[in-house]
Amino acid sequence: MTFVERYGPWALVTGASAGIGAEFARQLSEKGLNLVLVARRRQRLEDLARDLESRNKVQVRIVTVDLSQPDFLPTILSVTNSIEIGLLVNNAGFGLAGHLIEHELEKELQLLDVNCRAPLVLTHVFGRQMAQRKRGGIIFVSSVSAYIATPFEASYAASKVYELFLAESLGYEFKMKGVDMLALCPGSTDTEFHEIAGSRPVAAMAVEPVVRLALKKLGKTSVAIPGWHNRLLVYLLKFTPRRVHTYFAGKVMANLVAP
Ligand SMILES: NC(=O)c1ccc[n+]([C@@H]2O[C@H](COP(=O)([O-])OP(=O)(O)OC[C@H]3O[C@@H](n4cnc5c(N)ncnc54)[C@H](OP(=O)(O)O)[C@@H]3O)[C@@H](O)[C@H]2O)c1
Repeated sequence: MTFVERYGPWALVTGASAGIGAEFARQLSEKGLNLVLVARRRQRLEDLARDLESRNKVQVRIVTVDLSQPDFLPTILSVTNSIEIGLLVNNAGFGLAGHLIEHELEKELQLLDVNCRAPLVLTHVFGRQMAQRKRGGIIFVSSVSAYIATPFEASYAASKVYELFLAESLGYEFKMKGVDMLALCPGSTDTEFHEIAGSRPVAAMAVEPVVRLALKKLGKTSVAIPGWHNRLLVYLLKFTPRRVHTYFAGKVMANLVAP
């Protein structure tokens, strides 16, 4: 079965206006999938859609929606109800660096909605359709942060645990329904993420190999960690107590939070 037969004809990518999501859109269109691109910034989505349509001869639809809003689903369904979504990429997300109590509670709740609630809602809707067709795939963009309780990025790391556990648990449930699940766990990656979170990146990887690994591992394994240094880190964590991880994560993050 080809990639398009397994995961086509349409892929829906959230957070496609920048960074890892835009790269998913590029690589999936190169594989011949039509795309539904979801984010808030319309101009960016339109520019990307035009580029991918002309370059890779695929169809692209865009949905400008705020995934932190409780009523985002009908807007997405109005664009997808006549097409088959064979691949869902739950990528949209953001972090908030610094002391939790210094952040607006409203912003922390938006983080939960975008990083956890939206992937759950979309997985419920499109996962159900995929299970009925007995084929498809869902990618959750989690993080290496899911493996380390992270002071000064506490709720972000916790939200990424949610995505990792959801992907791994649902991977078991959906296997018998013919649907592949993958948790992609990047380390620091060169995107707008850090600027928005209010932190500085360290040893950031380019987006291209991060996404390439995810598309290579989909259907073959349940978790993909891009970069040998990130894989080594996660491996070494197995041999040290969790409180030690948290201690060092706190030391590192204290220096990375933007003043
Ligand atoms: N970069 C890293 O170091 C890193 C490491 C591990 C995991 N990740 C994960 O990778 C994923 C993608 O992040 P990125 O690094 O590519 O960051 P990015 O460049 O900041 O892109 C984030 C994307 O999410 C979208 N988004 C954010 N809030 C949204 C909202 N309320 N509604 C709809 N869309 C929203 C943004 O679109 P609009 O602003 O246009 O809405 C944008 O397209 C995230 O889940 C992040 O946690 C990143």
